[in-house]
Amino acid sequence: MPHQNTIAVILAAGKGTRMHSDKPKVLQTLLGETMLGLVAFAAGNVAAQVLTVVGHGQDLLRTAHPELAGGFVLQEQQLGTGHALQMAWDRVRASGASHCLVLNGDTPLVTPEIVEDLLQTVREGVDMAFLSTVLPEAGTFGRVLRGADGEVLGIVEAKDYDPERHGPDTGEVNTGLYCLNVATAENFLFSLTDDNRAGELYITDLVGLAVQAGHEVRAVRRSESQELLGVNSPLELAQAEERLRSGIVNRLLSEGVMLHQPEAVVVGPFAVVEPGAELTGPCRILGKTTVARGARVGAFCQLTDATLAAGAEVREFSHLESARLEPGAIAGPFARLRPGALLMENARVGNFVEMKKSVLGPGAKAGHLTYLGDAEIGAAVNIGAGTITCNYDGANKHTTEIGAGAFIGSNTALVAPVRVGENAIVGAGSVITKDVPDAALAIARARQANLLGRGKKP
Ligand code: UD1
Ligand code: CA
Repeated sequence: MPHQNTIAVILAAGKGTRMHSDKPKVLQTLLGETMLGLVAFAAGNVAAQVLTVVGHGQDLLRTAHPELAGGFVLQEQQLGTGHALQMAWDRVRASGASHCLVLNGDTPLVTPEIVEDLLQTVREGVDMAFLSTVLPEAGTFGRVLRGADGEVLGIVEAKDYDPERHGPDTGEVNTGLYCLNVATAENFLFSLTDDNRAGELYITDLVGLAVQAGHEVRAVRRSESQELLGVNSPLELAQAEERLRSGIVNRLLSEGVMLHQPEAVVVGPFAVVEPGAELTGPCRILGKTTVARGARVGAFCQLTDATLAAGAEVREFSHLESARLEPGAIAGPFARLRPGALLMENARVGNFVEMKKSVLGPGAKAGHLTYLGDAEIGAAVNIGAGTITCNYDGANKHTTEIGAGAFIGSNTALVAPVRVGENAIVGAGSVITKDVPDAALAIARARQANLLGRGKKP
């Protein structure tokens, strides 16, 4: 449960030059989820309100994350992480929160548990806390300075770090996750200066300022928090993505999900795969997909926001997006189910069948080479190979209705809006432009003429 007295600020205004991309860095994805989405998930689980400081590419951020847009704060010029927090401070203050979490937007592996832990440290009475870790090579990260008794003295950015002045490098670095007592931070946030190599306002200077004023600041050092160090390059993104992927796959295996070739199975962080489900790699199960117990996904499939009920099956090389399979339904191999495709109990679609915003009733079948768009198809209907619902007239989309038990012959074009009645039969090769009554046989094609002797000479 999020804490009512806690607000979170995600710093996400930077460009991320090292990604060589026009997208703002925090929109780069891991297992189909943006870095910002993952950080916001961790923050939103702990804090009652989440603000995001945006600048570079803010329109793209708004489009990608409308659910966060109400908490957007603009930092027009990226004058540093301290400046970014200043931009959000009016809203932090107005929220009335006593505690403020600050998260770098480029740390996608942060979890609610880690954020909660840090918050608890401050709730125990410390004025300010941040998460640190120890690296064999401190590299470009901010160095944590400690005094003789191990007490935190401050953070010095890599560019400004000088062993003569700051003491030998201990390898302890700042991960960029902070928890501030709002009343304490308020005293220093607007005293930050750009008196440093980068000429920026550093959020990290808050630590030294608070310590000098006699406040208690704690660096919570975690050995496993290397993974929280920011993602700045394509290589670091790939490493973070693989760490997230293998963590999820190992969890699923331990829970009792059957995974073949687990090293090639990708399951997104917000997907749910129940114990007793079976996935064969390579496959990608993304977004808010749910795979219930006993459901199966074959190799080379990609599912995004799909729902597979118990015993449903998606066969090899199929692609599902916001589609749903009820118990016993089967799709593929080579099926493409687009948003709004619904296969009711025991319905089946076979190879090269595309469905969009269409329902296939219980036990209905579309075995081969078919497009079903804006169609409502009743129980036990058989759709012949090559059937096309002509749902678009160039301006509007129209609906096709097919009653229960109907039989649609191969290579039929159903020109919508149109209705085929229950138990009707449509002859192969028909172009159906008018409704077909229940139990009627409709044939709408040119009659065959056999002209004797007009073939080849023997
Ligand atoms: C920062 C820390 C460093 C820490 C490291 C951990 C500072 C000064 N340094 O360095 O101590 O070891 O993270 O990964 O904070 N941002 C803004 N506005 C700005 C500048 C940055 O919103 O004006 C955002 C960026 O989009 C990014 C985050 O803040 O998500 C961190 O900025 P970045 O430039 O990546 O900081 P680092 O140099 O990595
Ligand atoms: Ca960074």
